[in-house]
Amino acid sequence: MDATAAPIRIGADPGMAASPALPPPEAREIVFGVRGASVHYGTHLALRDVDLDVYRNFVTAFIGPSGCGKSSFIRCFNRLNDLIPTARVGGQITYHGEDLYAPAVDAVEVRQRIGMVFQKPNPFPKSIYDNIAFGPRVLGMKGGLDERVEQALQRAAIWDEVKDRLKTPALSLSGGQQQRLCIARALATDPDVLLMDEPCSALDPIAPAKIEELMLELRRDFTVIVVTHNMQQAARVADMTAFFTVEVGDEGRRTGILIEYDETARMFTNPQDSRTEAYVTGRFG
Ligand SMILES: Nc1ncnc2c1ncn2[C@@H]1O[C@H](COP(=O)(O)OP(=O)(O)OP(=O)(O)O)[C@@H](O)[C@H]1O
Ligand SMILES: [Mg+2]
Repeated sequence: MDATAAPIRIGADPGMAASPALPPPEAREIVFGVRGASVHYGTHLALRDVDLDVYRNFVTAFIGPSGCGKSSFIRCFNRLNDLIPTARVGGQITYHGEDLYAPAVDAVEVRQRIGMVFQKPNPFPKSIYDNIAFGPRVLGMKGGLDERVEQALQRAAIWDEVKDRLKTPALSLSGGQQQRLCIARALATDPDVLLMDEPCSALDPIAPAKIEELMLELRRDFTVIVVTHNMQQAARVADMTAFFTVEVGDEGRRTGILIEYDETARMFTNPQDSRTEAYVTGRFG
């Protein structure tokens, strides 16, 4: 794990730091309401009883030790667990007040509105342009494709680097560029939420700074949820942070639980639970 003894700096760069003055809870718009959520794989309860609200135009970070269910949980928000045959999501998750798991909800449409970026950049073996145009083409989206591609690349802060080579293979880009391309690809279908599962951990040491800067930009227009092992990263980018851990029960069964969810600054400077404190100060995990 990457906790260090160094004190965690909240908002390392004052210019781009998560705002210290968040709107008060009553002024926040809830994008996702999670009540009693759980994830099973077959008979294994991987995550249980999670309650939290994800707010619009916030960056929300999920942190916690390996196996505590962060990826299982983030996959609930775009119904990606539906694609894992053994996975079963319980409890209730609302999206703008509507039950995300209601029978009438189309999971493909959900994934258009709620984009996702993974740990390892995964561009298609196509040109830069065709990667971004892929989603809009499949969905038959109206409007100029060239403009849509440019806008997505602009928003993902990679346009200037690729504008003269749109027809070259996406796989010729560096890892950090590929990850921003994947962010652009997710943005091209006009989502309102971007899910990111450890988006920086497979990148070289320089690339994460750009992705972090981008996350702070993106929250102006989108709601961002990020899973990260890197607590400094959570401290720098997240408005709210949720800390999960693993509970070891009978016969060594390991189940993820949510320990604490709060404004990031408070989570790191004045956590309410001793387990959170141990984790954020690097004494556990
Ligand atoms: N597709 C799957 N099939 C079966 N079990 C799974 C699957 N994905 C995750 N699990 C199990 O669910 C539990 C939580 O895993 P998950 O990947 O959600 O944790 P995580 O917090 O993302 O861990 P990491 O930090 O290592 O990525 C683990 O016990 C894991 O083995
Ligand atoms: Mg994971």
